[in-house]
Amino acid sequence: MEHLPEHRVPRTRSRLRVLAPVAATAVAVAAVVAAATTASAGTTLGAAAAEKGRYFGAAVPAFKLSDTAFTGILDREFNAVTPENEMKWDATEPTQGQFRYTSGDQIVSHAQAHNMRVRGHTLLWHSQEPGWAQNLSGSALRSAMMNHVTQVATHFKGKIYAWDVVNEAFADGSSGGRRDSNLQRTGNDWIEVAFRTARAADPGAKLCYNDYNTDGVNAKSTGVYNMVRDFKSRGVPIDCVGFQSHLGTGMPSDYQANLQRFADLGVDVQITELDIAQGSNQATMYGNVTKACLAVSRCTGITTWGVRDSDSWRSGDNPLLFDSSGNKKPAYTAVLNALNAGGTSTPPPTTTTPPPPSSPPPSSPPPAGSGCTATLSVQSWTGGFVTNVHVTAGSSAINGWTVRIVLPSGTAVTGTWSAQASGTSGTVNFRNVDYNAQLAAGASTDFGFQGTGVGPSGTPTCTVG
Ligand code: G3I
Repeated sequence: MEHLPEHRVPRTRSRLRVLAPVAATAVAVAAVVAAATTASAGTTLGAAAAEKGRYFGAAVPAFKLSDTAFTGILDREFNAVTPENEMKWDATEPTQGQFRYTSGDQIVSHAQAHNMRVRGHTLLWHSQEPGWAQNLSGSALRSAMMNHVTQVATHFKGKIYAWDVVNEAFADGSSGGRRDSNLQRTGNDWIEVAFRTARAADPGAKLCYNDYNTDGVNAKSTGVYNMVRDFKSRGVPIDCVGFQSHLGTGMPSDYQANLQRFADLGVDVQITELDIAQGSNQATMYGNVTKACLAVSRCTGITTWGVRDSDSWRSGDNPLLFDSSGNKKPAYTAVLNALNAGGTSTPPPTTTTPPPPSSPPPSSPPPAGSGCTATLSVQSWTGGFVTNVHVTAGSSAINGWTVRIVLPSGTAVTGTWSAQASGTSGTVNFRNVDYNAQLAAGASTDFGFQGTGVGPSGTPTCTVG
């Protein structure tokens, strides 16, 4: 990591003047300046961030909500929370199809009672997969993953400001490519499928991709950048990118430029898991990260990964804004001063826009023969729907299939995954893609599509070939 040059921790003018041995008039002037500053400055992280149109959040584990020393700081200083572990796949679906929301709900309730936003973390991550999912692959995992996203995003619908839909899917190092995982092995489109599925379940939540070691311009962040650019060009619903920012004793010199290049793609950016190893420049770095966010109009907020040093997953580094006794550290003052001094640009409104229709894929040949069946499951909302199609081979293995679906008049397909569609309206043939063409006798695979208007119903026709 690169190290920034040392800077003095910013101090308020008023404090410097009050400490200096100066004439009575100067003291009087300083008092006026101090009063004016205090009147317009936020006195807590959340209030100061709100004055700049941002939020300031912390990661929160549910079991600490009964620790009054913890909640005292949380409720006073922060106006957003991220459940540290409680919304992860292993926590919410420990057994396939059996969902557990108690701890996540506790954090949401606490947030609602204190007017805090909730960042949902995380719908899909190769780590913290429950054991049953670790043992799945291919279309079984694809279906399980889509069901997980649908169920969890539906449960918390309307309560989540932004979801980390997918976490840490890119490889470290110079490849700029995807990380290997059982999710990745279901097909490269798994991330866009996850985003479309999340949008269908909770159209009001901002949908983010979140990763670490993407805090400067490097091969990994450029890989993410290229994915986001591709998603935006094809209408895949992505609204934001999270930069975890687990930093050591240095930060990339192009930190702000990196945030800005993502913002320029038309997504919000957020600093999602900030912590910085304690060292001589901890306060300076915290101040610089805060200034960088404020300088990027689409940087909508900052979250620290915990409250006190003792709450941190890397507590040996003392990387947070409050010490283990709950006292404000110099890093706290640096952040607060940066927020109060920072730019006045206000992030865009937090509404999400529906994805534009993707261009129609090439036509596929008409279906021929028989030997497979298909069933639909449709989730609808006013003006839109998402459909999952379950394709099953008959008593013989098949190599290639086509599902014909008759869409209601006025309905249009805006995106398809794990199949190629012949058109966007009327009668549409959905043909397999390479990875799901071959099905053993009795085996199944899933594909899906979403659209505007009324979703399809009935039983579609499946033909081999
Ligand atoms: O709750 C169990 C406890 O019952 C058991 O006795 C104990 C034994 O190991 O484990 C406890 O669960 C631990 C859990 O934290 C709660 O403390 C898990 O083992 C441990 O793996 C888990 O670590 C979390 C880690 O993600 C992995 O999920 C950290 O708290 C959490 O801070 C960390 O957060 C991640 C973000 O999600 C993604 N980005 C990186 C960040 C830091 O690693």
